[in-house]
Amino acid sequence: MEKINLNPQVSVSRIVQGLWRLTDWNWTVTQTIEFIEQCIALGVTTFDTAEIYGNYACEDRIGEVLKAAPHLRDQIEIVTKTGINMFSDKRAYTMSHYDTRKHKVVLSCQESIKRMNCDVIDLFLIHREDPLIDHQQLGKTLDELVDAGWVKAVGVSNFDPMKFDALQSHMRHRLVVNQIDWSPVCFEHFQNGNMDYLQKMNVVPMIWSPLAGGRLFTSSEEKYIKARKKIDEIAHRYGVDSETIVFAWLLYHPVKALPISGSSKIKRLKLAVDALNVALTHQEWYEIYTASGQQRLR
Ligand SMILES: NC(=O)c1ccc[n+]([C@@H]2O[C@H](COP(=O)([O-])OP(=O)(O)OC[C@H]3O[C@@H](n4cnc5c(N)ncnc54)[C@H](OP(=O)(O)O)[C@@H]3O)[C@@H](O)[C@H]2O)c1
Repeated sequence: MEKINLNPQVSVSRIVQGLWRLTDWNWTVTQTIEFIEQCIALGVTTFDTAEIYGNYACEDRIGEVLKAAPHLRDQIEIVTKTGINMFSDKRAYTMSHYDTRKHKVVLSCQESIKRMNCDVIDLFLIHREDPLIDHQQLGKTLDELVDAGWVKAVGVSNFDPMKFDALQSHMRHRLVVNQIDWSPVCFEHFQNGNMDYLQKMNVVPMIWSPLAGGRLFTSSEEKYIKARKKIDEIAHRYGVDSETIVFAWLLYHPVKALPISGSSKIKRLKLAVDALNVALTHQEWYEIYTASGQQRLR
């Protein structure tokens, strides 16, 4: 499996496993350990979570795994996120809102490390754009977390180029990742300039919901049907599964995307890994780009 160096301290696998839905899978600790071991055997060593996933319980599940199988810690990279105070029976907030102030980010980082029994976070992200962001304060806070050794690398998620630039301009350490939404039916980051900006800054995007949360294969909405038809056609041409073609399409782009598979099934993660051996043609990339009807070539 190809590894991407984010900085001298952290390398991540080109295909990442997402754990957003982990608590829905209702696995025992043993089943979760088996799943993580199977991911590692495929070369997928990087796992994505967030403070709020699973109604604040996902990081606890990871902590149970690392307590029962501490040898796994050195074999994996943990990505987690902060910056959202989510309405929940587990917290006192009466509405969900963002919070990227120093005390929230520092406390959240320390609590995530404690919950996950992991000593250090490999990559710590600000989960969403915060309209109340204080770039100077947050930049200094993220720098201090790296300097203090709580985290090995920092980045953001769902930031447009302007917000990324504003935060980075107040930092000594580099923001190494922007985690963004991209699939054959989602083109927000082509429209807001991120695909160009990230290449300019030599920052890799991690891609969430690469299969549009499964809707690419299940939805009866027109844009999904049109995209699916083209993807199935190309998959047939290569004699591979349609999921593999979607991941090959994401990997083809020079921005060097790191897709995050969200499936609970190892056989589906394998279909994503298989994409590393599929070379689409330039024209096929455009066939999928335009298939849903949302992107037109001028
Ligand atoms: N930064 C952010 O704001 C943000 C937002 C959302 C997600 N994320 C991260 O990105 C990760 C991936 O997102 P995602 O889970 O939405 O990814 P995804 O891979 O697009 O979707 C995964 C879902 O699709 C289903 N699926 C996959 N192939 C299918 C098929 N052929 N037919 C029907 N269903 C299929 C899976 O079900 P099975 O389990 O049955 O295979 C699973 O429920 C998350 O785990 C999380 O770590 C980040």
